[in-house]
Amino acid sequence: NRKTNLMPKSLEIICTIDELRTKIASWRKDKLSIGLVPTMGALHGGHLSLVARSVADNDRTCVTIFVNPRQFGPGEDFKAYPRDHQADTQALEDCKADLLFAPSVEEIYPIGSVTSVSVIGIGDILEGEFRPDFFKGVATVITKLLFQVLPDRVYFGEKDYQQLCLIERMKSDLDIPVEIIGCPTIRERDGLALSSRNIYLNKEQRSVAPGLHRILIETAEHFHTSNNRNQAISKGKKALIKSGFTKVDYIAICDPATLNQAEQNTGSVRVLGAAWLGRTRLIDNVEL
Ligand code: PAJ
Repeated sequence: NRKTNLMPKSLEIICTIDELRTKIASWRKDKLSIGLVPTMGALHGGHLSLVARSVADNDRTCVTIFVNPRQFGPGEDFKAYPRDHQADTQALEDCKADLLFAPSVEEIYPIGSVTSVSVIGIGDILEGEFRPDFFKGVATVITKLLFQVLPDRVYFGEKDYQQLCLIERMKSDLDIPVEIIGCPTIRERDGLALSSRNIYLNKEQRSVAPGLHRILIETAEHFHTSNNRNQAISKGKKALIKSGFTKVDYIAICDPATLNQAEQNTGSVRVLGAAWLGRTRLIDNVEL
């Protein structure tokens, strides 16, 4: 088949769970360690930093590309979500990933599939409040991918900090034998976190976008000096609107492990935010 012949040699591409299991079994037989990097594709430097880390840590690295319909809400961008198979395979080849698992929606959710994983509490706040089924979709697909690949280590970016915390909670609650590795957020020079959705931004929005990171840092600093959480948050929200964001979903100052609201500026805190530029929603977070 023409497509297969065009594919880079050292990156193997698999689309079915059956083939995936055969491949994983052969690696296991050879006692090779396996790293898993789950993604939704449209790969950028943030994704590739996870792949590089996995390649460094493990004998074999499996990257998954699956735009997971269950984590998109009704009005969200599932259909429009950027997809670029050719650029993605080239990037994975360059990063020396070993296997790309790119299943179809029917492969992951055959007709009749009704089981899902919910992480109560941490899945309901912040992102969960504004995207009600989002974390149920994430937790379900990650559980399935972990069972399919059975990796030693799985890699997530701090860019999606709540997602990372939720997966940690799920791993602990379900006794999933995998090591979760959180990796730092990769940013543009002006501070904007790399994201597949940044391509939605027009020139003017793109110039406003780095304000999210800057204002989250300012919010953290304000909390640190004032010890007044609500004041720091409302200052931050006002600053976002002033800088050109069209709507703010939330700014939150949280305990970095539980994501409960931080009460005091004594320990370390994580400041998380989500805001809109027209029809594009950006999220980011910083540590203090
Ligand atoms: P996606 O948005 O494609 O991101 C895949 C992984 O890349 C996530 O762990 C995310 O945190 C990480 N990532 C994204 N941008 C990053 C950046 N700028 N720096 C560092 N890491 C970054 O997150 C998802 O997909 C999905 O929810 C998924 C976990 C694959 C489940 O469907």
